[in-house]
Amino acid sequence: MNFLELAQKRHSIRSYTSEPVSQEKIDYILECARIAPSAVNFQPWHFYIARSEEVLQKIRQSYPREWFSSAPHIIVCCIQHNESWHRPTDQKDHGDIDIAIAVEHICLAAAEQSLGTCWVCNFDAQFLHEQLHLPENEEPAVLIPFGHPNPNKEVKPTPRKELQEIVSQI
Ligand SMILES: Cc1cc2nc3c(=O)[nH]c(=O)nc-3n(C[C@H](O)[C@H](O)[C@H](O)COP(=O)(O)O)c2cc1C
Repeated sequence: MNFLELAQKRHSIRSYTSEPVSQEKIDYILECARIAPSAVNFQPWHFYIARSEEVLQKIRQSYPREWFSSAPHIIVCCIQHNESWHRPTDQKDHGDIDIAIAVEHICLAAAEQSLGTCWVCNFDAQFLHEQLHLPENEEPAVLIPFGHPNPNKEVKPTPRKELQEIVSQI
């Protein structure tokens, strides 16, 4: 599989089987996050993987959608704002960019392993921060539910803009 094929294989999966993912595969996708690039190599991130049903329930409450609860695993991807690079010219915090790269590494690695994922940002971040007693400097930025895709649920590819629409010669 070349990179384009892998990128095409990844889709947002919103229905999962209850079968747990092997620890070997979880370790593999987390390793792929670990090696992601970041501004000045500051690696301003922390990943929490929910182990207990109690923690899973708290995370599910922050994004109460039926499909979300079907995922057997969830990774809470946090930005450490005290560790991120702030561009000296305008103080722009690059933590958002860094976490996005690491998260997409997770999603692509999972797709390569025939696992499903879905980016979730539309959750109650303040609620989750409180419920998980996260450190002050950590922002839960993205939730990644993952697991084995439900084989009975069809995944429709989503459309993309044409290259001519998004690329300009200057
Ligand atoms: C930053 C970001 C935030 C997203 N947040 C959500 C979300 O909260 N809930 C959801 O169901 N999908 C969410 N998505 C998934 C997008 O809807 C999805 O990636 C997009 O429609 C393209 O579909 P595809 O992932 O199947 O290619 C998010 C995606 C990104 C990149």
